[in-house]
Amino acid sequence: MATNWREIGLAASLAERQVSTVQVDGQRLAVISRDGQFSVLSGVCNHAGGPLGDGQLEGDYVTCPWHYWKFHWRTGLGEPGYEDDAVPAYPSKVEDGRLFVDLKSGTRRSRAPHPPHPLARTPRREPGDVRVVAISTTSMTEGQPRFSTSDHLLQIAIAEAANVGCETRVIRLRDLKFRHCEGFYSKAAAACTWPCSITQMDPGDQLDRVYEAIVHWADVFLIATSIRWGSANSLYYKMIERMNCIQNQTTIANKELLRNKVAAFIITGGQDNVQAVAGQMLGFFAEVGCVFPQFPYVAHSRGWSAEDMENNVIEVRDSELLRAGAQALTDRCITMARALLQDQLPAFEYARGGRKGHPLDN
Ligand code: FES
Repeated sequence: MATNWREIGLAASLAERQVSTVQVDGQRLAVISRDGQFSVLSGVCNHAGGPLGDGQLEGDYVTCPWHYWKFHWRTGLGEPGYEDDAVPAYPSKVEDGRLFVDLKSGTRRSRAPHPPHPLARTPRREPGDVRVVAISTTSMTEGQPRFSTSDHLLQIAIAEAANVGCETRVIRLRDLKFRHCEGFYSKAAAACTWPCSITQMDPGDQLDRVYEAIVHWADVFLIATSIRWGSANSLYYKMIERMNCIQNQTTIANKELLRNKVAAFIITGGQDNVQAVAGQMLGFFAEVGCVFPQFPYVAHSRGWSAEDMENNVIEVRDSELLRAGAQALTDRCITMARALLQDQLPAFEYARGGRKGHPLDN
């Protein structure tokens, strides 16, 4: 037997699964078994290094389990239209019931150019005064608007930002079509990519508006939610689960996508739990790298026993105190954001297991 041939294992065992991962001479390989035939491909996907051998055979193609790129089970070529994206395919043979691979005679890996997603550009603060995005997370029937207490206060807050000369944007999550987080991080840390894997795969997914505003455009995020059974609105959670990809870049790639960003919240509900909702929101936005003004939320609730929601709505609509509170919240955010832009506060760098860039280190 030529010395290039390396044993993989018992053919009968390998035939029990259509696709398996094996390690030979330190290389990760994908072994494919189909109709009594074997093939061996590199086990490393061209896209982001996903484990091809943990994928599945769909027709003539092995599908990567991370983001579903496909490679021909025999040739390693990408699916039709993507043939320039090829993973190495190695000769294999069965002798004496054992499968062998020739690692020195494989085809070459080739990568087709893939233009980066627009969100992948390095965040760079363009000159200009503070920019404020208002994000409404409340839901309501399409085409049948209702009075929302959280939206009402959010409108007051964002109008204040415009009044003091800031650029503003408003995003209503209920107007966007976007998918739930589908758990790429649960497959492997590196499978949760920036930009979000769903955003890169699905041009119809509209959460790119939120990513664009939060990562690239805004200095201040004003986020409004209703209270639903003691928690923030379900659309709020749908959004922040998709923002795992932002936090993940900090923890696995030491890359801070959010820096000098100020977050503040508007929380209203027919029943109470304001502090728990605020605690969750503060915790999440702290984890993605935001800072907060003093008194970082305004809230309203008439308590557990106030079942007369119509009066709740009237109270918020007519409250001068809440109006002034929403405006003051915006003013505090803008003051803080201006200070950050003028480098009047130090920037800290996240570092695992230690600290880096702390002003006291100088
Ligand atoms: S499709 Fe394989 S790593 Fe993304």
